[in-house]
Amino acid sequence: MKLIEVKNREELGIKAASLISDLVRRKPDAVLGLATGGTPVETYRHLVEDHHANRTSYRKIRTVNLDEYVGLGTSDSNSYHAYMEAHLFRFIDLPAAQHHVPDGQALDLDRACRDYDQLIDRLGGIDLQLLGIGRNGHIGFNEPGSSFSIGTHIVRLTESTRAANARYFSRPEDVPERAITMGIGTILKSRQILLIVSGKNKAEAMKQFLKYSKPENDFPASALISHPDVTVIADEEALSLAGQERAGISK
Ligand code: F6R
Repeated sequence: MKLIEVKNREELGIKAASLISDLVRRKPDAVLGLATGGTPVETYRHLVEDHHANRTSYRKIRTVNLDEYVGLGTSDSNSYHAYMEAHLFRFIDLPAAQHHVPDGQALDLDRACRDYDQLIDRLGGIDLQLLGIGRNGHIGFNEPGSSFSIGTHIVRLTESTRAANARYFSRPEDVPERAITMGIGTILKSRQILLIVSGKNKAEAMKQFLKYSKPENDFPASALISHPDVTVIADEEALSLAGQERAGISK
């Protein structure tokens, strides 16, 4: 695992975007695994800037998002479909047929899960998966206790995750109770993983994450330890509680 320390969320966005756009230029038909939430906003902004300034093209790129709320569709502004449109898709030359977000409105959700894993396989697997981390160590919507070998599946969100995401909804009770998420098994099949962590409210999770020397189910992000190509970009606030823990991580 490689740890890149940056000053703040802005620098994090610049660094993460440059790693992603380098890959896009190197492999113009790459499969990018994308995340939503607060942390990647600057990353997407810098990707859009790079697209305009340097003409980095996404015409042959394929993307697969990590997750979506069950019950929310493209037209719902809180859906992850809508988030991706608002922050990235509408600004770049990625054809609509080439971006994929799990279908939280499918009538047969189990089937939608199986279809999503098959889609990823058909695309040739994920070249780079972008991840954020929850305060309880979740990745995607894989909450503590999740299996590390499971594929895309339906999860019941924990109260802490619903509370953390309530900021985007007009009423806390509007946060959906379930989501469809790539499983940790799906995530670990990605050839490269880029975990971005920012802010004081992630400091405790970051400290814990760096303490693990082997994967343990009570902290989903610890699954990444078993992956051969993980880069973590974290800012000063996120690393503010990690002292000793970050020594020994290759830089
Ligand atoms: C988002 C996702 C989540 C977030 C995590 C951190 O697609 O799967 O795991 O990455 O909850 O969210 P933020 O960045 O809002 O702190």
